[in-house]
Amino acid sequence: MRWQINANEWLYEAFWGTKNDLWQRVSLCIIFGKARTKLDKMKLDLITNKAEKTIELNPNDEFYTPNYAIMPLLKYLKPNSYVWCPFDTEESNFVKMLKEVGHKVLNTHLGNGEDFFTYEPPTNIDYIVSNPPYSLKFEVFDRLFKIGKPFAMLVGVVGLFESQKRFNMFAENDFEIMYFNKRISYFKDYGDPKPSLNPPFSSVFLTKDLLPHQIVFELIEKK
Ligand SMILES: C[S@@+](CC[C@H](N)C(=O)[O-])C[C@H]1O[C@@H](n2cnc3c(N)ncnc32)[C@H](O)[C@@H]1O
Repeated sequence: MRWQINANEWLYEAFWGTKNDLWQRVSLCIIFGKARTKLDKMKLDLITNKAEKTIELNPNDEFYTPNYAIMPLLKYLKPNSYVWCPFDTEESNFVKMLKEVGHKVLNTHLGNGEDFFTYEPPTNIDYIVSNPPYSLKFEVFDRLFKIGKPFAMLVGVVGLFESQKRFNMFAENDFEIMYFNKRISYFKDYGDPKPSLNPPFSSVFLTKDLLPHQIVFELIEKK
């Protein structure tokens, strides 16, 4: 077939040249070599960017807790406890208030390279207390139940038990709930803690081995 002969001739020409031209072969090797290096670099970039993405902060998780929402929890913690706040910088009101009332606080945060999912807390912590990232509710509670320490996490209550995965997890574990008389207005900037434009969230403290009853009701006083 003529087209087959042409294709064979073309390939022969391209790779070997009409007279086994050494330079032509060298150039082809260089071109292929460069393309390969570029491909390897692209692969490396993809891997590196993926690694960086895990420590990117999700803007939907950046809502901070006002003092009045933390206040009702304080009376349930044993005095002079050692508390781990795993989603908190030094600016967090959890950290500030817990220290103010005499607890020793260990605060860790993704932004400081401390990922809740891989960080190993000291074995002598008494409580784990915080407001976790909303986008990772199942993963957060799953790890908390596995760690097995008493905890209190402030979370939006709407839809909390609706996902099948979360339903199963909560059905299999003991926990308590602190329910408030008012919704909570979170804020977006520690330097300017005015309520964010979002509507206030109906929130609860979901706790383990911390409250005296499976459900307690608390009044909050918004300032
Ligand atoms: C809803 S905010 C609450 C912040 C603080 N606990 C408070 O109440 O003001 C959740 C925080 O967890 C951080 N975060 C998200 N994923 C994390 C992870 N894997 N490990 C540690 N912190 C994380 C977010 O960057 C965010 O600042």
